[in-house]
Amino acid sequence: MFGKKKQTPSIDKDQLELIENAQKRIKQKKRLYIHFVVFLIGAVFLIIANTVLGIGEDFKIAGINWFVYAILAWLFLFIYHFVNVFITNKFMSKDWEKQQLDRLVAKQQQRINKLEADLIKDDNKIVKVEVPEKVKTTTKTTENKSNTELTIIVAAGENNAIGKDNNLIWHLSDDLKRFKHLTDAHHIIMGRKTFESFPKPLPNRIHVVITRQKDYKAPEGVIVVNSMTDALDAARKDDNPFIIGGGEIYKQAMPLASKIEITRVHTTFDDADTFFPKINDSVWAEVSRTTHGADEKHAHAFSFITYERR
Ligand SMILES: NC(=O)c1ccc[n+]([C@@H]2O[C@H](COP(=O)([O-])OP(=O)(O)OC[C@H]3O[C@@H](n4cnc5c(N)ncnc54)[C@H](OP(=O)(O)O)[C@@H]3O)[C@@H](O)[C@H]2O)c1
Repeated sequence: MFGKKKQTPSIDKDQLELIENAQKRIKQKKRLYIHFVVFLIGAVFLIIANTVLGIGEDFKIAGINWFVYAILAWLFLFIYHFVNVFITNKFMSKDWEKQQLDRLVAKQQQRINKLEADLIKDDNKIVKVEVPEKVKTTTKTTENKSNTELTIIVAAGENNAIGKDNNLIWHLSDDLKRFKHLTDAHHIIMGRKTFESFPKPLPNRIHVVITRQKDYKAPEGVIVVNSMTDALDAARKDDNPFIIGGGEIYKQAMPLASKIEITRVHTTFDDADTFFPKINDSVWAEVSRTTHGADEKHAHAFSFITYERR
């Protein structure tokens, strides 16, 4: 009952094979060594047999004693044995060694891949726990606040219009300045169409472009992903990534975001073709508002409004 539990070996099949082959190799070298010793003793014995004991004393070939031929023949055998073990590696060739090395490398690579996959799984778990938490709870807890904040930033008309023909409908320079200021040095997550509406990537921001196209080509530095989950994953080290549009992406990000920075343009744009989802007051609480009148630089009056998830 108190006996030591029998240990099961933790060596796997490949490792066992390597050990067995190493043992075989040692045996080969040992046999060669024994052969060498036996050859030396044998050679001396042949010499003594012929010269001292007089065995076959008169048997000569081309005037040379027979034992010289016998020793040379044996020497040939010994050299052949030596060459097999050390030079041609007949039993365990260089190919075999390379094969073993490749297998070891492949095995290590497999382990590295598994570790990486586990790491990604763990990271995803963190994202999955954080994000749906914000979806499920309508109350923003302190715990959520300490996690990554996901902010939607948008400019929308009174009827939630945000764009037409893959472009903005207005030009409001103070709104652009605010956008620039808030998103500076952050990840900006956007749909492929919004990205293509820019003449070029915006400076000092990390662009994350969502597309279903597997081979979508974007300029260097732009991160291309195939889903919202991957976009959030790409931005996971950012404490406040921004969802910057357009309509399709806003719709998918609404349940995930913790904050909305909206520039409410106080005009109704009937000819728009893209819209922002309705902001539900039971989910979102207005926490700040700054109003800006129309002027020579701004064709429309607008308000900067911040909403936080209740
Ligand atoms: N007023 C504002 O603040 C504001 C801000 C941004 C944009 N906009 C406007 O919004 C309009 C563009 O919005 P939009 O709705 O047409 O397009 P969008 O949301 O910018 O991009 C849509 C594209 O994103 C990709 N996508 C969407 N969901 C995806 C998913 N779950 N997985 C993988 N890929 C996904 C698809 O790309 P693929 O087709 O390549 O698969 C889809 O065609 C433009 O008029 C723009 O000017 C306005």
